[in-house]
Amino acid sequence: MTLLALYLIYALALSIALARKGVRASTEGNFLSPEKRKLRLLIIGATGGTGRQLVEQALNLGHEVTAFVRNRSALNLANPRLRIVQGDIMDYASVAAAVADQDAVLSALGHKRYFYPTRILSEGTRNIIKAMETHGVGRLICETSLGIGSSAGRMGIYYTFFLIPLILPFYFWDKARQEQIVAKSKLDWVIVRPGALTNSKRKGRYRHGQRVGNYLWTVKISRADVAEFMLKQLEDNSYLETSVSLSD
Ligand SMILES: NC(=O)c1ccc[n+]([C@@H]2O[C@H](COP(=O)([O-])OP(=O)(O)OC[C@H]3O[C@@H](n4cnc5c(N)ncnc54)[C@H](OP(=O)(O)O)[C@@H]3O)[C@@H](O)[C@H]2O)c1
Repeated sequence: MTLLALYLIYALALSIALARKGVRASTEGNFLSPEKRKLRLLIIGATGGTGRQLVEQALNLGHEVTAFVRNRSALNLANPRLRIVQGDIMDYASVAAAVADQDAVLSALGHKRYFYPTRILSEGTRNIIKAMETHGVGRLICETSLGIGSSAGRMGIYYTFFLIPLILPFYFWDKARQEQIVAKSKLDWVIVRPGALTNSKRKGRYRHGQRVGNYLWTVKISRADVAEFMLKQLEDNSYLETSVSLSD
């Protein structure tokens, strides 16, 4: 009983800490000019679930796409408007080389090193931002997760009291740090916080805003829909310099 009480206190304290560390800013910014609709886009995490969707959908929209990958053979896509660049997010030089000459960056960075402290998301994102500021690239659309900042607790009981405190505390802490680094940048940024990700087909209909998510059950959304929404943020300023939650 005492152990359970201690565990619940820990889970709640972690949720509160994630709420305090995450982002809640909201201001207005500038629209991309309409004549720049066909953009040069850098996609980070291009071999991942959301990343692949970003690459494919961006190409279908007619954009010039640079896919940032660790392993070229992991992305077997061919398109005259697709350039594949090899690098590691922790290696600033490779990030800077990929960022130069882009109009915007979309990040779907993630990893599976859950069980010990890492700074891949936060320090990797710091590298992206430093490179963007150096090369004058304005807009960053960054995928994090529901359950951070003003969305803390909205991943539902299963995440709030089991997955985040037991399996993902280091991961979520790094995500919260990642959000802070994005929010402190001088970029035009949007943080996109999806619910649990699925590989379902794109529906093109989803809920977005600050109140998305549920304190009791876990809300979901397909990676395809997340990618669609992220691409829309390149031209829509509704959520500029703020975080937006996303679910089915
Ligand atoms: N799973 C969920 O239910 C859920 C819910 C909400 C939010 N999210 C978050 O959404 C994001 C996308 O998730 P996902 O499942 O679609 O993606 P994912 O399959 O986890 O892909 C992550 C991508 O990041 C890349 N990456 C990892 N370390 C890297 C490094 N050092 N340098 C360069 N690239 C690196 C991976 O490359 P490799 O292919 O080389 O590994 C991969 O392309 C993640 O941040 C995830 O935590 C997930």
